[in-house]
This record gives sequence, C-alpha cells and structure tokens, in this order.
Amino acid sequence: MADLAVDVGPIQLKNPILTASGTFGYGEEHSPFIDLSRLGGIVTKTLFVRPRRGNPPPRIVEVTGGMLNAIGLANVGFDEFVAKYLPRLRARSTVLIVSVGGEQAEEFGDIAAKFAGVDGVDGIEANVSCPNVKKGGWTSAPIRMPCSGSFAT
Ligand SMILES: Cc1cc2nc3c(=O)[nH]c(=O)nc-3n(C[C@H](O)[C@H](O)[C@H](O)COP(=O)(O)O)c2cc1C
Repeated sequence: MADLAVDVGPIQLKNPILTASGTFGYGEEHSPFIDLSRLGGIVTKTLFVRPRRGNPPPRIVEVTGGMLNAIGLANVGFDEFVAKYLPRLRARSTVLIVSVGGEQAEEFGDIAAKFAGVDGVDGIEANVSCPNVKKGGWTSAPIRMPCSGSFAT
C-alpha cells in the first residue's frame, strides 16, 4: 500500500483527503456510508460560539451543471458541538479540524480560545469569508478568500 501521509504544519495526516467544511456536517450523516477513519482528516461545518439558525429555506437549489447554496452558516454552536458531536468524532482514528467563524474578528478569537482547551481537536480552520451571509464578506479585512480557501491552524 502506498504511503500517502502528508504533514500540514504540525498536523500529520494519513492521507491528503480532507472533507470540505460545511459539506460534511459533523460527520453524522456520512457515517453509515463510509468509514470516517479512512479519511486523512475531518473538517467540521463552521461553528460559532453561539448556535445560529442560518438562512430560511430554500437554501439549496439545483441549477444546470450544479447547485447553488446559501446556508447562512447554520450551526449548533460550541456547547452543543462539544457535548453531542465531538465525542463521536473523537472516537474516529483520524485528524479532526474544527472550522470556526464569527460576525466580528473578536468572535474568532473567542471560539479559537475555547477550542484550544478541548481535547481531541487537532486544528482550527478560520472561515474568513462566506458569501452567503451579510457580514460574511469581511470587506474591511485585509484578506479575502473563498470559503473553501480558509485554512489556518
Ligand atoms: C451546503 C454547503 C455548506 C457549506 N458550508 C460551509 C461552511 O460552513 N464553512 C465553509 O468554510 N465553507 C462552507 N461551504 C463551502 C465548501 O467548503 C466549498 O464549497 C468547498 O470547499 C468546495 O469549494 P468550491 O465551492 O470553491 O469548489 C459549504 C458548501 C456547501 C455546498
């Protein structure tokens, strides 16, 4: 078997396959279909300190050649994630990266600090720009990246 291991900074992945933030929820829906431990790592749906309802439905539409989504960063928030979903994710033998977000820069610091004290989290990805929420563009910030390009540890 080929060795596909790769290092991303201090994080060692058994292979370079990471789930794109938001497309994998908290790993629950995919568990019946694939063994999550075979992934190089799991990146969660973006989490805020407090729960967030996101945009009203419809939030996904099919278009020619693909789909459009505007979820609005719906998420369960830090407390519920840690209490309910993290134990099951932690049980998988693969890297866990939490995607974090906030409406203000300070909120990124707040949730990153909260996760820094949590066992079983290997890395933090900052969602610094999401086009689907009013404050998601971070127009005053010096960097603008697509949702999917927001990797940081
Ligand atoms: C339903 C859906 C929800 C998403 N939610 C998030 C999210 O919570 N955080 C994030 O950083 N990106 C989110 N994304 C963006 C995906 O991570 C992104 O689409 C993926 O990385 C592929 O990149 P591309 O769309 O530029 O090809 C979401 C995408 C979809 C389709």
